[in-house]
Amino acid sequence: MSNWLKLEGDVCAVTGALGGMGVEICREFARNGANVVLLDLDEEKVKAAAADLAAEFGIHAEGCKMNATDEAEVQAAVDATIANFGRVDVLVNTAGILRFAAMEDLPLSDWEQVLNVNLTGYFITSQRFGREMIKAGQGRLVHISTVASHSPETFSGVYSSTKAGVNMMSKMLAAEWGPYGVRSNCVEPCFVKTPMSASFYADPEVEKSRSRLIATRRIGEVSDIANAVMFLASKRSDFTTGDAIKVDGGFSNMMGDLTAKPGGRRAYADNYLKNKGVELWSDESGVAKPTDQ
Ligand SMILES: NC(=O)c1ccc[n+]([C@@H]2O[C@H](COP(=O)([O-])OP(=O)(O)OC[C@H]3O[C@@H](n4cnc5c(N)ncnc54)[C@H](O)[C@@H]3O)[C@@H](O)[C@H]2O)c1
Repeated sequence: MSNWLKLEGDVCAVTGALGGMGVEICREFARNGANVVLLDLDEEKVKAAAADLAAEFGIHAEGCKMNATDEAEVQAAVDATIANFGRVDVLVNTAGILRFAAMEDLPLSDWEQVLNVNLTGYFITSQRFGREMIKAGQGRLVHISTVASHSPETFSGVYSSTKAGVNMMSKMLAAEWGPYGVRSNCVEPCFVKTPMSASFYADPEVEKSRSRLIATRRIGEVSDIANAVMFLASKRSDFTTGDAIKVDGGFSNMMGDLTAKPGGRRAYADNYLKNKGVELWSDESGVAKPTDQ
């Protein structure tokens, strides 16, 4: 089963490569022997991260300063990738931002900024890297969306709308580019600890309360997301396109758990599990600590 993904030697470009998920996705590609193109806003940091990755895993990695909303910078990154590697096999769109606001207060400038990065940026990078894949007759696009593309992340302005747009854009690309051998899929995370979400988890009560809404009773790790990305980026998912993998610990299926139960909806589930000997809660504070971590 070793090298099951067969990503060795593939050229994989990752936007938002310096972010919580981006870093782990790049590392997982490198662990699998793929060559990596790291794309993010800070030139010095992205080049240093590429050098570190190459040194640690013995692969070829290049770092390139690229604002995903800037057509010229994206095209320059594509040209540099082709010059350095001769081709691009995989693009992972990860670069995203979040601005909190109630819909009635949301400034138009925030609406436009988030739309620009989260949707327009995904489009520009997909189009420009995708053109090279079309020429080569093969390629895989993976877009980090979110479960909040299906149900609104309230008080987060345009965020959910942009990700719903990403889902449809991915389906469009899958339908139009399938004949060229290019696939496009989404990964839909929920509740993952990264710099983007760090402030949420500064309060242990938030972690506890969120964990109880998740079937697996834990917050997601960046490795959970990277694993799903690897599958969709590899030829192991060759007959999957225009689709998505939810990586949410079952959160999307928990509506039934929100309904009233004898003794209170949460107490009922916790007591029931406790009586079954399932030790999901480590101490009296009730902070979620899954026993397998
Ligand atoms: N963290 C979560 O719980 C969560 C849940 C669901 C979906 N997501 C999605 O996952 C993706 C990654 O999230 P994260 O938590 O790793 O975020 P993060 O804030 O840690 O990283 C985002 C990265 O994108 C880069 N970036 C921002 N704007 C850019 C631009 N215009 N061009 C190029 N790079 C840019 C940033 O510099 C940063 O390195 C995002 O698309 C986010 O919407 C996150």
